[in-house]
Amino acid sequence: MTKRKPLIAGNWKMFKTGPEAKELTSRLKSLVSDIVDVDVMVAPPFTALAVVAEAAQDSVVYLGAQDLFWETEGAYTGQISAPMLTAAGCSYVIIGHSERRQFFGETNETVNRKIKAALEGELIPVLCVGESEAQRDNEQTFSVVKTQLKEGLEGIDTPGLERLIVAYEPIWAIGTGKTATSEQAQEVHEFIRKQMETIGGNSIAKTLRILYGGSVKPKNIAGLMAKDDIDGALVGGASLDADTFAGIIRPCSHLAEGKA
Ligand code: PGA
Repeated sequence: MTKRKPLIAGNWKMFKTGPEAKELTSRLKSLVSDIVDVDVMVAPPFTALAVVAEAAQDSVVYLGAQDLFWETEGAYTGQISAPMLTAAGCSYVIIGHSERRQFFGETNETVNRKIKAALEGELIPVLCVGESEAQRDNEQTFSVVKTQLKEGLEGIDTPGLERLIVAYEPIWAIGTGKTATSEQAQEVHEFIRKQMETIGGNSIAKTLRILYGGSVKPKNIAGLMAKDDIDGALVGGASLDADTFAGIIRPCSHLAEGKA
């Protein structure tokens, strides 16, 4: 039986200045200092990475970035590379978030290049997939997610797939207060695991951590985590307050034993 350790990740998006991020991290660190069986990650804006890395030292809180560029260095004004993120203390990077796809022209092809760059730079990529409301209404959820996985992971070898994390984030549930029901989420997570079996084989599929994202709150985390294929959460709004975020992390402790 494979046990998957829960991962609760906070995507701070374009919130928190350096000093605010430092304060939030210090409070979070003290609130979750006794939790050892849940991986916790926060992804602040680039400008706060250094202070958060310092504030999170000697804690269970890992650092992630919200995006990266696929080249390692060069004349690319405004971009940040994998080696820069690693040097800033990041171990994770979120790739292909729906807001990047929607507002910044991210495609499955650019996602694929970024995942390769992240792996090359020893970062753990968190690949975000998910359908819009219209796509769900048109019963295209599975085909959209299938294409995002297939094209996003094109040419990635087994060691890369072993490090990958996938986040299922239905766009209609992000920042809207409309969470997918645990059943709706489980159905897609199970589908993702099956697709990953086709892409990478049985062992990759079994050990892959699949996070759910979209209006996760302290009150709905337990129901989501009770599902077989939900291994954690990617949290936006509710990760901006340390006490609320800790209220999502704590119920995930002591759960790993129960999961197949
Ligand atoms: P939300 O955002 O929790 O505010 O819905 C989730 C996300 O975008 O990752």
